Amino acid sequence: MNRVIIFDTTLRDGEQAPGFSMNTMEKLEMARQLARLKVDVIEAGFPISSEEDFEATREVARQVGTLDNGPTICGLSRTGLGDIDRCWEAVKYATRPRIHTFVATSDIHLKYKLRKSRAEILTASVEAVRHARAYCEDVEFSPEDASRSDIGYLCEVLSAVIEAGARTINIPDTVGYAVPKEWGELIATLRAKVKGIDGVVMSVHCHNDLGLAVSNALAGVMNGARQVECTINGIGERAGNASLEELVMALRTRRDFFGLDTNVKTEEIFKTSRLLSHITGVHVQPNKAIIGENAFAHEAGIHQDGVLKEKLTYEIMRPQDIGRATNKLVMGKHSGRHALAARLKDLGFELDEGALGKAFKRFKDLADRKKEIFDEDLISIVKDDIAQVPETYTLDYLHSISGTGIIPSATVRLKKEEQVFQDSGVGDGPVDAVLNAIDAITGVKGRLQDYQLRAVTSGKDALGEVSVKVDFDGSLVFGKGTSTDVIEASARAYINAVNRLVHPAKGRDVQEVGP
Ligand code: KIV
Ligand code: ZN
Repeated sequence: MNRVIIFDTTLRDGEQAPGFSMNTMEKLEMARQLARLKVDVIEAGFPISSEEDFEATREVARQVGTLDNGPTICGLSRTGLGDIDRCWEAVKYATRPRIHTFVATSDIHLKYKLRKSRAEILTASVEAVRHARAYCEDVEFSPEDASRSDIGYLCEVLSAVIEAGARTINIPDTVGYAVPKEWGELIATLRAKVKGIDGVVMSVHCHNDLGLAVSNALAGVMNGARQVECTINGIGERAGNASLEELVMALRTRRDFFGLDTNVKTEEIFKTSRLLSHITGVHVQPNKAIIGENAFAHEAGIHQDGVLKEKLTYEIMRPQDIGRATNKLVMGKHSGRHALAARLKDLGFELDEGALGKAFKRFKDLADRKKEIFDEDLISIVKDDIAQVPETYTLDYLHSISGTGIIPSATVRLKKEEQVFQDSGVGDGPVDAVLNAIDAITGVKGRLQDYQLRAVTSGKDALGEVSVKVDFDGSLVFGKGTSTDVIEASARAYINAVNRLVHPAKGRDVQEVGP
């Protein structure tokens, strides 16, 4: 088989990392984009972990898993039979459902975490796979912490679960401990020793603790793995997972070396990466391979000279290969609703009438303040309007005063349903003053843990996008907002966090026992 299956776990392993939680609507939006990217499998969640994770996985299965030629929708479960039942309840709506069951096989995990013997884990693994197979044909098994497991025992467990019906055997480097040569050899050894391995798909799942996730995944592929588990922007537990964009573009750019293809529509990569950043508020570092701001920027004079003469001198990929259109001017003040709908559709946003109406209003407001409107501006305003959370509070009016030699102060008016509330505040800067005024209205006091401001495009009139992390009495909540006025963007971000506090994105009931 000359094709590598791309198993995207952005919505499961990626989402479980602190700061990356997504609510059901956000997961759905991401899943739709992953379907446009043409990943083969979406791991949508860990259904037993919380009600909301269950609901999100089920909705992804229902709404994305039933698209024509759509991806397989997978849910994660431990080996407990109740876990598997819950997982099936969520994924069963998809045209191609998959149950992914896992249990640790390293002695460290057996002794300290599970307090079980090797024999008990072997039995649990086989029973879990049999139970899952009674529900569906597509069952994946992962021996957690495989890189630190005894190889003889690993072979025993894997041979047994294949006999029990597992179709995909995924080998995780859970703690990012492996190095490429050793990891490649492990995959080759398993291919040689595990009974029945030729009849199943071998997969690798590499974490990035030593910065080796992509290299290890590629070493796995070179030794026969034909599925890679990865995430957009490389998000995931601790230092993250192998990044999808790096893996896919390595396979494509060095096809001469690997001789392998994927199904991924690479022109959707940049959009997918930016969508994830918009949803989570976490931006990628400028020098991040493939999708970082500087990934295609040639700064040194000697490089610029070379690229101007012939792109091949320093460019191994073209920006358009990943769908990167730089600051394209798209719309102006006089563009109409249809033009906006058409452009948004090109950008991957199909809005219903209500959402389009809201986006159009924000677009017109923006066009009054900003001469040129770019794709990034449009993405930013629709992302502010759709998904997210119900707007318990909305900003109605804001006035702030600051300068040298005066005490910054602000007056804020918020709407809550039909009621209007107004209050004022002072602070050590205009943002502090505005947030204090909001606290006075809502009655909940937040402590700002993180505040980031970035310009969505270039230009002095650019939209400012503010992301905040706020500690409300022990609950850490994320919020974001945009405006050409950075004080207003700060207020919107903070109000978004307050609204999320009122409608929390996720409960994490059994988080501590997760992978
Ligand atoms: O890292 C890990 O071991 C996992 C498994 C559930 C595949 O995420
Ligand atoms: Zn993992």
